[in-house]
Amino acid sequence: MRRHVFISVLTVSLVVGGLAVWGSASTAMGGDAVVATRIISVMPTLGDDYTYVGSKKCKKCHTKQHKSWAETRMGKALDILEPGSSKEAKEKFNLDASKDYTTDTACLKCHTTGFGHAGGYAVPNPDDKKSVRAAKARQGVGCESCHGPGSAYVKVFEEIMKSKREYTVDELYAVGLTKIEESTCLTCHNDESPTHAGAEPFDYEKRKEEGTHEHIPLKQRK
Ligand code: HEC
Ligand code: HEC
Ligand code: HEC
Ligand code: HEC
Repeated sequence: MRRHVFISVLTVSLVVGGLAVWGSASTAMGGDAVVATRIISVMPTLGDDYTYVGSKKCKKCHTKQHKSWAETRMGKALDILEPGSSKEAKEKFNLDASKDYTTDTACLKCHTTGFGHAGGYAVPNPDDKKSVRAAKARQGVGCESCHGPGSAYVKVFEEIMKSKREYTVDELYAVGLTKIEESTCLTCHNDESPTHAGAEPFDYEKRKEEGTHEHIPLKQRK
């Protein structure tokens, strides 16, 4: 538990320190746009207070969600980067269907979990079994792509499970669980995706039904 306290203190000091910097920058350069750009560019660094642990960790307690998720297209999103896969779509959008895109950093950030962030997906070295296992647990659009990096909230869930106590979701949001909204999806479902022009417009409610996993009613949540 002591570690969680340390992590939140670190977050607060980063936020406060960061605000001071934005404040002075905006006065010097004059303009809300400048402030907004700075806030956006600093966000990912703050996110790294929590690290990615991989979908396999969640499977232990959420077997049904994991099983149904693995069958979704997002669960398999790394596979389509393999040569020969999704040939028609690749050709339509001027991608090379015979190329291996599974090591292409321009694709991995949306087709894997936490790429470029602490504990996130890294291209494995086939001779290093540990790196292969780690990559497998982070391939595709995994649990943490939507729910947030799990290093701290998984520990709280472990304690909730052991004690069988009730919890409020705000406790979990405070340690990195994401409140899922349309904007969570739009970090990837946007026109930076080379096939975006061919996708139908993003209807949040409809896509949520099609794309996530089986839902099990929560018993311990207040
Ligand atoms: C900004 C996030 C993002 C990036 C970067 C990205 N993709 Fe995707 N990709 C998506 C999303 C979201 C979809 C699903 C629907 C869509 O196209 O918006 C998708 C779908 C696909 C499809 C399947 C299209 C179909 O209709 O069958 C292929 C193939 C694909 N991507 C290849 C790539 C390749 C190759 C790269 C790197 C050169 C790449 N993507 C980079 C987000 C991304
Ligand atoms: C980390 C990036 C990422 C995030 C976040 C993300 N998606 Fe996706 N999504 C993808 C990629 C990549 C594909 C393409 C997978 C494929 O075709 O194999 C995809 C495909 C889908 C599909 C399959 C049908 C289609 O049009 O291709 C649905 C449905 C979907 N996403 C819904 C959602 C919803 C709802 C959210 C938010 C709750 C979300 N996605 C968040 C990357 C993401
Ligand atoms: C594409 C986004 C997305 C992915 C990937 C995803 N989830 Fe979810 N998950 C959701 C949404 C949306 C909800 C509905 C509740 C909400 O809106 O916050 C949800 C709800 C849940 C819940 C609450 C109970 C329930 O069943 O509804 C659990 C537990 C959960 N997810 C676990 C997981 C696990 C474990 C994985 C990986 C195997 C996973 N999720 C992958 C979007 C996602
Ligand atoms: C040690 C077991 C355990 C692990 C590991 C675990 N969870 Fe959970 N999780 C729980 C319990 C217990 C609940 C509360 C279930 C209930 O109320 O029925 C829960 C609830 C949730 C909820 C619902 C939160 C809400 O109230 O809206 C989400 C989302 C979730 N878990 C995601 C994840 C993800 C993602 C991972 C992996 C990074 C994960 N969990 C790992 C035990 C665990």
